[in-house]
Amino acid sequence: MKAYDIRIYPDPVLTLKSEKVEKFDDELREIIDSMRLTLQISGGVGLAAPQIGISKCIAIIVRDEQQYILINPELIESSGNVTSEEGCLSFPEIFAQVTRPNCVKIKTNCINGEVKFFEVDGYIARAFLHEMDHLEGKLFIDHISPLKRGVIRKKMKKRASNEKNE
Ligand code: CO
Repeated sequence: MKAYDIRIYPDPVLTLKSEKVEKFDDELREIIDSMRLTLQISGGVGLAAPQIGISKCIAIIVRDEQQYILINPELIESSGNVTSEEGCLSFPEIFAQVTRPNCVKIKTNCINGEVKFFEVDGYIARAFLHEMDHLEGKLFIDHISPLKRGVIRKKMKKRASNEKNE
C-alpha cells in the first residue's frame, strides 16, 4: 500500500473515460487500500482512481467513519435537484456552485464482485455523482457556466505553468 500524488487539472488522465474493473483480485484490493490512504492524507471526502493516475472505474467516499466503495458504478434512478458548493482534490482551493440530483440509486460492484445497490441522498448523493463523473472523464467544472469554467481553467493552467517554472 502506498499513498499517491493527486493528479491536478489539467492532467490529461482526468478527462479520460475509465475502464471497467473485470478482475476482483489482490491488485484491486491494493488499489483501493492505496486510494483510502491517499484520501485520508488529503483530507478529502471522495477520490476516484483517475485522480491517482489509474484509469479504472473505482471510487471511494468516506464520511463520518462511513466508507463507500464504488466499482463500476451505474446511476439507476435520480430525483430532485439541489445546488450546493462543490470542490475537488484535483482543483485545489477552487469551489463552485453545482446543481445535481438530491436522491440517487446506484448499482455497483463490491470488492468481491458482488452486485450491490445504494440509495443515498443529500451530501453523499452529491459525492457519489461527483466521483462517478470522474470515471467518465467529466469534472465538476463541466456543470457550471462556460464563463465561470473558462475562469477556473485559466487559473489552473496558470498554476500548472508556475509550478513548472519553480
Ligand atoms: Co473530484
